Amino acid sequence: MKNAKWAPGSWRKRPQHQIPVYADQAKLEQVEATLAGYPPLVFAGEARQLKSRLAQVAAGKAFLLQGGDCAESFGDFRANSIRDNFRILLQMAVVLTFGTKLPVVKVGRVAGQFAKPRSNDLETRDGVTLPSYRGDIINGFEFTAASRIPQPERMERAYVQSASTLNLLRAFAQGGYADLHHVHSWNLSFVKNSPENAHYEQIAKRLDETLAFMASIGITRENTPQIRESEFYTSHEALLLHYEQALTRQDSTTARPEEGYEGDYYDCSAHMLWIGERTRRPDGAHVEFLRGVKNPIGLKCGPEMTPDDLIRLIDVLNPENEPGRLTLISRMGFDKVEKQVPPLIRQVQKEGRSVVWCCDPMHGNTVTTENGYKTRHFSRILGEVQKFSAVHKAEGSYAGGVHFELTGRDVVECLGGDQALTETHLAQGLYETLCDPRLNATQALELAFQLCK
Ligand code: PEP
Ligand code: CO
Repeated sequence: MKNAKWAPGSWRKRPQHQIPVYADQAKLEQVEATLAGYPPLVFAGEARQLKSRLAQVAAGKAFLLQGGDCAESFGDFRANSIRDNFRILLQMAVVLTFGTKLPVVKVGRVAGQFAKPRSNDLETRDGVTLPSYRGDIINGFEFTAASRIPQPERMERAYVQSASTLNLLRAFAQGGYADLHHVHSWNLSFVKNSPENAHYEQIAKRLDETLAFMASIGITRENTPQIRESEFYTSHEALLLHYEQALTRQDSTTARPEEGYEGDYYDCSAHMLWIGERTRRPDGAHVEFLRGVKNPIGLKCGPEMTPDDLIRLIDVLNPENEPGRLTLISRMGFDKVEKQVPPLIRQVQKEGRSVVWCCDPMHGNTVTTENGYKTRHFSRILGEVQKFSAVHKAEGSYAGGVHFELTGRDVVECLGGDQALTETHLAQGLYETLCDPRLNATQALELAFQLCK
């Protein structure tokens, strides 16, 4: 299978899961053609650069921080939301850099994280049953029959929002906002009275002193871009393959015209794409699509995955064993990580495969309260990462990254942490997610500090 001919559309002949069937095929084709004619959102060279950064992670010389909303939405499309998510990732990265003494590779779940896999195709409320919400790129959140119909036009809107979001992120990353001299001003006003704030200010002060010392020996923001700019990459789940294919481009810089080769394919909707837990069948459409694009890719690994499943998938997704190409995003759950991860690590070691091992402590720890709120406990989230790290240490492997659902806003969706959020708090109007519960800014910062311990 891995040698069969790949084309951007070869996934269409494979079993498709979680992809909507559009009633209006003519409209679908029209939208796909429109998107295929639009400019790419990222440049292939950037995706290669991220891959080389991830190769450093695979080698134990850097650490990956990936995070953002579970699902972006058309309704929450504001500069402040984008800035707040970016800012909390910057803060976490500073904390983790101090803690690990390693470069931190920052990857947002942003500028394209619109499509959601669902465990149930249907949703029932008060005796009414409708198709499930699948993310704003597919259908609407509103619980009406009309809103739940998949509409191809939504892909165009997602593209426009992604382009605009990415534009602002690039401005923040390169235009001065991310300058390390601003480390104090990133602290969010509502975190001010928390222990996290005091702890963060200590680190910020040390950073000020370091910057002043460096300036005294001639290393300044004027001559050192690493001080005034931040490298920030985008990622999302490559779920809606119509959209992903439409944004796939051949990279002319890798063309070899004398051989009639027009260049490597990159999915230019984001720097990194991942395959979700529900769509990772080796013979399925999603694996088929992603095996052929050269971006760095992620693979969610849940508790049902066997060592043989994993090697089979690695064979298909990274046959050349290229470092940085494949990030395994383990999402086992607090109770299962210690049992499920060691056999996977051993198999990868035995077969000599280069991977980044990343821990997503969110998706195996979701619970529903009696009042129907989907939530997660801070202690379980932290606990899964701690166990993941311990398991890697015991196996002589490197736990190279973390993957969180978080927001820079002051929401109440996950429980616990220093704020001691309880089920009662969930009902107080600050539960905003359209999909999974996110860490708020205080919890996210607290987690970063805890991880350094
Ligand atoms: C997600 O990352 O939002 C998600 C749905 O994860 P998983 O595929 O691991 O369940
Ligand atoms: Co999620």
